[in-house]
Amino acid sequence: MTTSTATEPLLEVRGLSKSYGGVKAVQDISFDVRPGDVVALVGPNGAGKTTLIDIVFGTQRADAGEVRLRGRTLTGSSERRARQGLARTFQHPQVALELTALENIVPGLFGREIGSFRAAWKWAWRGLSCTPDAAVAAATEIAARYGIADVTAPCGDASLGTRRLVEVARAMASEPAVLLLDEPFASGDPESIEAIAGAVRTIQQSGNGVVLVDHNVDLVRELATNVVLLNFGEVAFAGPPDECMSSPAMREVYFGEET
Ligand SMILES: Nc1ncnc2c1ncn2[C@@H]1O[C@H](COP(=O)(O)OP(=O)(O)OP(=O)(O)O)[C@@H](O)[C@H]1O
Ligand SMILES: [Mg+2]
Repeated sequence: MTTSTATEPLLEVRGLSKSYGGVKAVQDISFDVRPGDVVALVGPNGAGKTTLIDIVFGTQRADAGEVRLRGRTLTGSSERRARQGLARTFQHPQVALELTALENIVPGLFGREIGSFRAAWKWAWRGLSCTPDAAVAAATEIAARYGIADVTAPCGDASLGTRRLVEVARAMASEPAVLLLDEPFASGDPESIEAIAGAVRTIQQSGNGVVLVDHNVDLVRELATNVVLLNFGEVAFAGPPDECMSSPAMREVYFGEET
């Protein structure tokens, strides 16, 4: 496991707050992702993990606070943020069920081989015969790297674990500076879990960063460099995984123990 260094943060989350009506989903949350960091956001259902990912990626707007990538404040659409170096997956995988794994991976290449997100999806929907050869070759290579066996069947026929893997492969195709993963290991088979863990390690080894939301304590302990424990939208603990797992805050939040 790599530890944080004193280098400048890739991603800075500063004072984010968000309410839905009377529900304070996220309250004044701050954390950094430095090169090589895997920051795990953990906490019980409704703690605010997905809301944080949504705000960072621009899927939701914060009521207060800001997010900076390499020192520049992020504003605007998710597509714009993707061009600036963010990629994400969703708690409920967002893959087009009618399209094959390869066609679903093609739009991830939009920042490189294709250059436009809209064009990339248009190619994907028209089929691989209309997609530039370089993009098909790159998507094929990425699918193989992540062990996606049947690249030509519609994703609607694939297991949930495989759909998550396809979504991760699409995100990896954009070579993100920071990859945001929302429960990538949920309902996964051992092969897809290992492949997704491999993607996390690849990002880490390339000096980029990951924000990992997951309930799998063993994988969080294995992969994370830092853990932010959330409860009712607030930080209950932030620090190294082993310290977090053995902390009174963890026992209190997850098991309701008095401290
Ligand atoms: N679009 C929305 N409209 C209204 N309330 C929402 C919305 N999204 C989230 N919430 C509420 O905000 C709080 C935080 O939800 P969030 O989905 O961020 O939690 P989470 O930590 O991702 O939970 P889980 O582990 O179940 O995925 C919850 O109380 C939830 O009901
Ligand atoms: Mg969630």
